Amino acid sequence: MAYLLSKENFSKIGEFIYRKSGIYLEEDKHYEKLAKYIDKRSAELGFDNFRKYFFKLRFDDKEGAEFQELMNAITVNETYFFREKDQFEVLVNRILPELHKTMPSSRPLRILSSPCSTGEEPYSIILHIVEEGSVVEQRDIEVVGIDIDSTVIEKAKAAKYTERSVHAIPKNILNKWFKKKSLGYELGEELQGTVDFQVANVFDKTQMRKLGKFDVIFSRNMLIYFDDASRKEVAMTFYDMLNPGGYVLLGHAEYMSRIVSVFKAKKIDNTLIYQK
Ligand SMILES: C[S@@+](CC[C@H](N)C(=O)[O-])C[C@H]1O[C@@H](n2cnc3c(N)ncnc32)[C@H](O)[C@@H]1O
Repeated sequence: MAYLLSKENFSKIGEFIYRKSGIYLEEDKHYEKLAKYIDKRSAELGFDNFRKYFFKLRFDDKEGAEFQELMNAITVNETYFFREKDQFEVLVNRILPELHKTMPSSRPLRILSSPCSTGEEPYSIILHIVEEGSVVEQRDIEVVGIDIDSTVIEKAKAAKYTERSVHAIPKNILNKWFKKKSLGYELGEELQGTVDFQVANVFDKTQMRKLGKFDVIFSRNMLIYFDDASRKEVAMTFYDMLNPGGYVLLGHAEYMSRIVSVFKAKKIDNTLIYQK
């Protein structure tokens, strides 16, 4: 059976998605997934052709709900606790002690996890901070997690995780901070609510500005879904959102030097960090 989405229209909706979210879809990799989604969504809406669906998406979506549905369907949300763990070590052992000395003591240190998916990354930051202890005892630290996908933000707020998601957490830390449930694990009450989760699109300048200024931005495993122009735009948004002296950390396969040259790269142990 043919899909409502033709290959020709794939490039039209692909261009729309790219412009709004930075996500760059390739026909040979993504056509089928998107076409199946549009068939399903059109059936729910009672539409019998792609044109009606695309019209709604572009011109009859004032609250952005249809675009949100689409984002929830196409994003790749793969994540787990303590992923690329050395970066959390560098954060608590090097970056936070340094920022605690150099940033005005009258305000909290602020960390952004962008994107946070289902919350494993910002909670890994919290777990490292509370386990390490020395800075958090002397200073307020705020952690904010954002993602374009509203379903992952709802899951992050619920703080319930699968065995797979917690597999890399050392057993002593898992037992200390999580409750075992019949299916998986739930973050203990002491740590629930320690991350401020919000739905936000890194390309939406108004949403990003509202989040305020940060001292550290984690942006891991999102830029890989963008093309060069979008990566550059996001890198400059992060630059603007950082306090002078603040840091950006990227995923292991992502390099700021290939995107923009405004940051100073530093290598600590095997971890590259980028300072404003
Ligand atoms: C693979 S996950 C990475 C999660 C976590 N940072 C990690 O490294 O484990 C990528 C996330 O990027 C989010 N994302 C994609 N485009 C985005 C955008 N324009 N604004 C905010 N989040 C976006 C997706 O919804 C997805 O949850």
